[in-house]
Formats: sequence, structure tokens, C-alpha cells
Amino acid sequence: MAKFEPILLRNRGVEGARTLKVYEARGGYRAARKTLEMTPDEVVEEVKAANLRGRGGAGFPAGVKWSFLPKEREVTLLCVNADESEPPTFCNRVLMEEDPHQLIEGTIIAAYATQSQIAYIYLRVEFHEQFHILQKAIDEAYAAGYLGKKIFKSDYSLECYIHRGAGAYVCGEETGLIESLEGKRGWPRIKPPFPAVAGLFHRPTVVNNVETLSCLPHIIERGADWFTGIGPPHSAGPKLFCVSGPVKRPGCYEDSMEITVRDLIERDDMGGGMLDGKKIKGVLPGGISMGILTADELDMKMDFEDPRKYGLLGLGTAAAVVIDTETDIRLVLRNMTRFYSTESCGQCTQCREGTSWMDKIAQRIANGAGRMEDLDLLLETARNMGMMPGLSICGLADGATYPIETIVKKFRSELEEAIRNQAPGRSQAALNVLN
Ligand SMILES: Cc1cc2nc3c(=O)[nH]c(=O)nc-3n(C[C@H](O)[C@H](O)[C@H](O)COP(=O)(O)O)c2cc1C
Ligand code: SF4
Repeated sequence: MAKFEPILLRNRGVEGARTLKVYEARGGYRAARKTLEMTPDEVVEEVKAANLRGRGGAGFPAGVKWSFLPKEREVTLLCVNADESEPPTFCNRVLMEEDPHQLIEGTIIAAYATQSQIAYIYLRVEFHEQFHILQKAIDEAYAAGYLGKKIFKSDYSLECYIHRGAGAYVCGEETGLIESLEGKRGWPRIKPPFPAVAGLFHRPTVVNNVETLSCLPHIIERGADWFTGIGPPHSAGPKLFCVSGPVKRPGCYEDSMEITVRDLIERDDMGGGMLDGKKIKGVLPGGISMGILTADELDMKMDFEDPRKYGLLGLGTAAAVVIDTETDIRLVLRNMTRFYSTESCGQCTQCREGTSWMDKIAQRIANGAGRMEDLDLLLETARNMGMMPGLSICGLADGATYPIETIVKKFRSELEEAIRNQAPGRSQAALNVLN
């Protein structure tokens, strides 16, 4: 297969790439200028034709989302979702660190297409360094006349602010993010109304992920046909993938969505294979919330469609965590249940109680005091939560159930054996941390 030429990461490692001068010297802001010569509808149509699916987790087409905005509206707001709250995920962080102007240019294009007057970049609080990098780039863009009044000497004006979150997982959910931006507790909203109709400050609002927006300059510059020519038709365009765990080269890599989980782990230019001859037990390929694959399922394509065939919720954040055979699956299970029970915002009874019941059961199993019926109890609890069966306000509950269900179903014999033997989880140190 021909080597993939980086697109989103083309400036990674280039000296001075964070500065406006170097970004422009390498072709930056040409697409923003071109955008301002198009009509907003033309931009929307180009992005629709490119079938740019949201990179924030749900894979919803960006152009289609923009067309949900009411035709008649006075104020439109754009929120850039830079919360990146899904565990093992750091694609957005790399994009902001390596190429902040690419994100700003993408933000300008999306804001113009949606005729937004203000763009808010909602940044997770832990991103201290990235905050300074981004702010510097924003300041440079203002000084150059690329943000602010009548940008690029056009009639279009755009203000751009960074808003730092307080570090809650649920604030990555778009309506939790909107509530948090309004200065309230990050509680997801009941939908409808959807943000496109009544979002931030009850104004029509679009929320898009950092990576989604970073694709826009390339679509405008090189066209929708070029974009759809990369990867499978349903999963067009370049994509960033993270890999972590006991692999030789943990990191963030770019390719088309033709690649498989095996490629991501084993290719020399990606994960580079397992460290110290370790063997794979399982892989969480899309952050933790999409579910788990066994070592026999590594041919899954890292695209928007294939994960469903393996019982997963979706591609998620395309951040894979590799689990080796030395790792006790009970500790993996407990680590997850603990995360969701801590991060549930508590508004919906099923999610609040369900995540905490699942955590208590997983803790009992990890401590060597599990009962055989606990496995079915976990599955039953998982079935009775979630937005997809219409029981919860946001997708956190679905994300909490898929990893638990798939671990119990795919690693049942290992869990049963551990329960029969009634031995505590192998790594007592890890358990102490979790308790
Ligand atoms: C619990 C939860 C956490 C989420 N966290 C993030 C996040 O950190 N970043 C993100 O872009 N999307 C996150 N999402 C998805 C957003 O709700 C939304 O779909 C996304 O920001 C839309 O952008 P996109 O269409 O460009 O992907 C999260 C969703 C849920 C349910
Ligand atoms: S599903 Fe969970 S996280 Fe989402 S609103 Fe309900 S309680 Fe909060």
C-alpha cells in the first residue's frame, strides 16, 4: 500500500509551524480567503459533498448538521469542542499543539458557512500548554486581520474566544458543554430543542470537534472529490488514530480509515508491535466507551461502519488501548465502571444508579468476592440504561454500557474462572489505586 502523506499532521515537527508566518508560508489561510469569495451555502454544499463526518465520536455529517440551522436567524454561535475528555484520546491535543492555525482556519470556514458571529473554543482545563499555544495563535490571527472586524478585508466579522472548562467528562457532550459555557453546572440538556435551534444562550448553535474543523481548510483548498477519494466512501478523508498500552510506539498517527486495528498496533510507522514480546488479550479501539475487541478481532477496520459488526457502539474517538495477556480483565472492568460512576452527572436515575451498581459489582468481582450471577446482573443493569433505548438524557450512559457488556460477553470464561477461584485481582497495587 502506498505510504499515506500526512494532511492534518503535515506541519508536525516543522520548525515554527505554530507561527502565522510559517503556517502561511506553507499554504495556510489560502482556504479561508477562498471561502470568503464563496457564498455560505456554497461552502455548506462543498462540505456536504465531501461527506465530512464528525470526528468527535458520533460521526454525524458536518454539512448536514449546519443545514439544520433555522433559515431566519439573527445570531448564530459556533462552539469548538476541544474538551477531549474520552480516556486514551489525544488527537485534538496533538492538532492544537502542532498546528493551532489550522484549527483557527477551520473555525473561520465553519463560522462563515454558518454565518456565526462568535466562535468559542471550549478547552479542557488540563490543557494548560495548549491554552497558551492557541491563545498566541489567536492573537496573531487578530493582529493580521484574520479574526475580528471585517476579516481578510471582507464584510464578514468573527470574534473568537477560548473558554476553559473545569475538567468534567460530561462537558464534552455538546449540551453539557453549552451549559458549562453559560457558567452553569455541566448538565446535558433534554433534546429537543437541539442546539441548532436553541443552543448557547438559547441561540442557534453549532458544535464541532477540533479534528472535524481541522479538515475544512483541506476540503476547501482541494475540493470534495479529492476528500472523498481518501478511504471508504462512508468514511471519507484523513483521520487521526491514537494507540497506547504496551506497544513499542504509543502515539498519534494519521491515515485513511482503510486501516485495521492490527495495522495501528503492528505497522512500523504506527504502534510498531507489542513491547517485550507481550501478547494481546484485547483492544479498546475507540476510546473506552465503544467496547472491547478480542485478539481474534483485530481485522476490524477503523472506520465509521465496521465497528458495529463487532458488537461495538461505533468508531468513537479512534483511540486504541491495547491490553496484554498479563492484565487481569477484572481490573480493566473495574477501572471502567469506576470512571463512569464518577463521571455520571447524576440527572438520570438509570445512569446515576446503574453506573454505581455496576461499579459495586465490578469491585466485588475484582476483590475476589464475586458471585456467578453477578455477570448476568451486570448485563441486565447495562440493558436498562442508555439514551438509545430512550432512558437517559445523553450518550454517557450508552458509552458506560458498551465496554461493560462487551467485556462480560467476550471475556466471560475468564471472569467465570476468576469467580470460581475466588482469588483477588492479580495486581493488588492496581486494586489499591482503584478502591
Ligand atoms: C459523555 C460524552 C462526552 C463527549 N466528549 C466529547 C469530547 O470531549 N469532544 C468532542 O468533540 N465530542 C465529544 N462528545 C460528542 C459531542 O456531544 C458532539 O457530538 C461533538 O462534539 C460534535 O462534533 P462533531 O460533529 O464535529 O463530531 C461527547 C459525547 C458524550 C456523550
Ligand atoms: S445519561 Fe448520565 S451523564 Fe448523561 S445526563 Fe443522564 S445522568 Fe447525566
